[in-house]
Amino acid sequence: MSTSARLIDTEQRLGAHNYKPLDVVLTRGEGVYVWDTDGKRYLDCLSAYSAVNQGHCHPKILAAMVEQAGKLTLTSRAFRNDQLAHLYEELAALTGSHKILPMNSGAEAVETAIKAVRKWGYEVKGVPEGKAEIIVCSDNFHGRTLSIISFSTDPDARSGFGPYTPGFRTVPFGDAEAFAAAINENTVAALIEPIQGEAGVIIPQPGYFKTVRQLCTDNKVTLILDEIQTGLGRTGKLLAEEHEGIEADVTLIGKALSGGFYPVSAVLSNSEVLGVLKPGQHGSTFGGNPLACAVARAALKVLTEEDMIGNAERMGDYFLEGLRSIRSNIVKEVRGRGLMMAVELVPEAGGARQYCYALKDLGLLAKDTHENTIRLAPPLVITKDQVEWAVEQIEKIIV
Ligand SMILES: Cc1ncc(COP(=O)(O)O)c(C=O)c1O
Repeated sequence: MSTSARLIDTEQRLGAHNYKPLDVVLTRGEGVYVWDTDGKRYLDCLSAYSAVNQGHCHPKILAAMVEQAGKLTLTSRAFRNDQLAHLYEELAALTGSHKILPMNSGAEAVETAIKAVRKWGYEVKGVPEGKAEIIVCSDNFHGRTLSIISFSTDPDARSGFGPYTPGFRTVPFGDAEAFAAAINENTVAALIEPIQGEAGVIIPQPGYFKTVRQLCTDNKVTLILDEIQTGLGRTGKLLAEEHEGIEADVTLIGKALSGGFYPVSAVLSNSEVLGVLKPGQHGSTFGGNPLACAVARAALKVLTEEDMIGNAERMGDYFLEGLRSIRSNIVKEVRGRGLMMAVELVPEAGGARQYCYALKDLGLLAKDTHENTIRLAPPLVITKDQVEWAVEQIEKIIV
């Protein structure tokens, strides 16, 4: 039995089957490439769901991690550490946010924002206790905790896990009229992804977010944009909201905030919303720890200093142009912004998963989503030659 077959067998036997990964066992990564246990190299076109925007094992993030790990890793927030203030300062300078709350996973950042806007609703907006409502969109993906799956419209994510957390009102994504109709005096916030990633890279019509922003302002509703996947360069801008010409009241980031080294997320906000949280009302043992802060500081530094955001814009345009030039009768649509892309196949193609397996054999790793869509999101350090090579492989399997 090969090493990979043995490891897969053990995983199947001992692990919960809450994932169905492609059967490739990876052991090493560098830049856009990863290698399996047989030494085969792959171009990674998933980037751990956009957590590895800076490329695998970026040497400067690695150096910061190793240095900090040898000094101080965890103090808890019972004491202060000498890294957190620097992270605050650098994040504030980059994003213009006035208050920041560090957490670990993306789902924790979402939960944190939900808690904060509810409290803000009661204390500042004057919503009667227990009546706060948050508007969310159909086909959303914000994580896997109980409150978050309570407002999922995906039966796989939601069914069987009740009783559910109340207080959410769902409207179709991209429908500004439905959004307006859902607002009432108890609406404290709207929680939306700028581009729906897990739903298959769904980009709303131009102007949708401008209307949503205006409606939120007019009705004293906090606009929370979940940029955990779209943020930090993925779409060719630091934040995807920039494409829409708007600013969220609360922005959620995670994933690439550590360049894939460590779970680090953050809630970025104005002072009014996060200002409602007082000592003892929220926290996390690991949130804001010095190791996470040092890693995040290095991850943000390389993202901006090495022009990864500009590269994402240029290479995204080039990649999309290449994908759109492929003549294939099994492609329904090519979508994307920056290096957040999707190729949706027609239902007659028989499902995207088999095409992901064919790509794997050719040395390219991509992930199927929602049956018929191949999602493509390489690290932002991808070069023109690598894009051309990727497009050639994709062309081979879909023409
Ligand atoms: C938009 C969005 N929000 C939240 C999450 C949850 O992040 P995590 O898996 O780190 O909890 C994800 C993860 O894919 C995401 O894409």
